[in-house]
Amino acid sequence: METVDAEEVAKFERMAHEWWEPEGKFKLLHQINPLRAGYICQQLTGSEYGSLAGLRILDIGCGGGILSEAMDQQGGAVVGIDRSERIIGTAQAHQNESGSSVRYRVQAAEDLAREEPGSFDVVLAMEVLEHVPDVDDFIKHCALLLKPRGWFFFATLNRTVQSWVAAIVGAEYVLRWLPKGTHTYGKFVRPSELDISMRRYGIALQDVRGMSYQPLGNTFQLSNNPNINYLGFGRMR
Ligand SMILES: C[S@@+](CC[C@H](N)C(=O)[O-])C[C@H]1O[C@@H](n2cnc3c(N)ncnc32)[C@H](O)[C@@H]1O
Repeated sequence: METVDAEEVAKFERMAHEWWEPEGKFKLLHQINPLRAGYICQQLTGSEYGSLAGLRILDIGCGGGILSEAMDQQGGAVVGIDRSERIIGTAQAHQNESGSSVRYRVQAAEDLAREEPGSFDVVLAMEVLEHVPDVDDFIKHCALLLKPRGWFFFATLNRTVQSWVAAIVGAEYVLRWLPKGTHTYGKFVRPSELDISMRRYGIALQDVRGMSYQPLGNTFQLSNNPNINYLGFGRMR
């Protein structure tokens, strides 16, 4: 099965030229990036690895590379894949300016899983699960890419009334942070559904945290409420 929903990818291609504009259509990704990158680094450096140096990190659906570059800065050996040639072009154009050493490839998860199964210490699926045709099948391919005891990090939107109000009504219609139609409520993922799929493919869920918006400081913080945006990780058997 294909892990790519062509219409979803096309939505991001249309906005790709704005990927690195802090106040552009990807403003939210820029706002949450320090939080999610910090969370990932904290988990990895607090583990038996001690640091990110030399870790093979795969960023699936890397888009313009906001998270890939942050992981590269922390010393990881980062591969960023995205199904869209135009989007990878944006990532590479930014890399020419930043000098990051991320290796970008135009690829879907299943293609790399066929080429390099079991070869990554860390797989990142951040803000991509809510854009794939079948979450269970996508996670199957993420699991295929992981080494034994590898780490799977995810971030997505929960399927709750609160997330519909905040992520669709609020972000798309009221605040207009994102174009209307960027998100489809039916594609949002409950943590319990993620847990079932991860377990099916040998990944044990370790942590789920909310990423909650703080209007006063206009920032996001980790919280114990995963009802809207959430992130977390699991480990391969
Ligand atoms: C919302 S963007 C997230 C970008 C990045 N992960 C981040 O959080 O900064 C989703 C990206 O996933 C890509 N994508 C969707 N399905 C994919 C798949 N099966 N394989 C590779 N890329 C995919 C899209 O082209 C798009 O660039």
